[in-house]
Amino acid sequence: MTTGKPFQEVELPEQKPQDDHVLFPTVLSPNTSTNSTATELTAFEEAIKAHKPWLESLLLKSGAILFRGFPVVSPSDFNCVVEAFGFPELSYMGGAAPRTQVVGRVYTANESRLDKEIPFHHEMAYLPDPPTKLFFFCDEEPGMGGETPIVLSHIIYEKMKDKHPDFVAKMEEHGLMYTNIAGDNDDSSSHTGRSWKSVYKTDDKNIAEERAAKQGTKLKWMDNGVKIISSPLPAIRIEEESGRKTWFNSLASGYCGPATEKTGNHNTSVEVGNGDPVSDDVVKDLLKVLKEECVAIPWKKGDVLLVNNLMVLHSRRPLVKPPRRILVSLCK
Ligand code: FE2
Repeated sequence: MTTGKPFQEVELPEQKPQDDHVLFPTVLSPNTSTNSTATELTAFEEAIKAHKPWLESLLLKSGAILFRGFPVVSPSDFNCVVEAFGFPELSYMGGAAPRTQVVGRVYTANESRLDKEIPFHHEMAYLPDPPTKLFFFCDEEPGMGGETPIVLSHIIYEKMKDKHPDFVAKMEEHGLMYTNIAGDNDDSSSHTGRSWKSVYKTDDKNIAEERAAKQGTKLKWMDNGVKIISSPLPAIRIEEESGRKTWFNSLASGYCGPATEKTGNHNTSVEVGNGDPVSDDVVKDLLKVLKEECVAIPWKKGDVLLVNNLMVLHSRRPLVKPPRRILVSLCK
């Protein structure tokens, strides 16, 4: 219970305690004694502005905050919430997921087939400047399934280092390189199925090459698309605040092999920065650890989930029963 604030911490059965007894994620609801945030969007916006430093410190401590029970009804309400936080907007230049703008800073979440899982990832970890924060909004509550599981990245690093110390040391030294084949047209069957024209916001190959080069990425043109090859990128990062190491990479979502046969892509691949392949056993263990450690809270209409993208990986479980409409906003 947080007194004196328009927010109160509530507990859900899915939350997991961290080492320092902080729950992951933090769940905030309107404070019942000062309950105008429960009925008026403007009161919620004002509360966010007034308590922004506190909310940011909570986000740093727990990694993610779920706002539940606030009057966020429409995509434009969600845009107002994002604006109230006032974090700078990130352009989706170079992003691989098919998504479209809904209103203001609000986009559809990945538009790939909802009955397919999206493996765990830090948003845009395959680019040099990924977003630091992500907002998700539940516009239409899933009929069944379709959760957005989240997991603390430093836990994944620790567990993987225990299981595969040599490989993790190699990743730390050389980083990882990602290859993504982007077609001439968007492909909704894949969660990285954005066409190169959408990825680089142009249909001019020279402009696409210039934009790719700015991100340290090379393009190799093919008959029906292009191979987008990243330079080696750090696969482990250090959280500034805590000094903890995080599993900051797209190995689980970019790897293509027997371990990811059911969930993976056919248009992406990952290798170690020195050109060594990634072993299937490593990925098998990685997927197991992610599954064991994650938290999946079923979406409720109006939920807003704020994720620290530097601390937390997210994924999407397959939708069992429609509908489901989750919207996102990415911040620098
Ligand atoms: Fe994502």
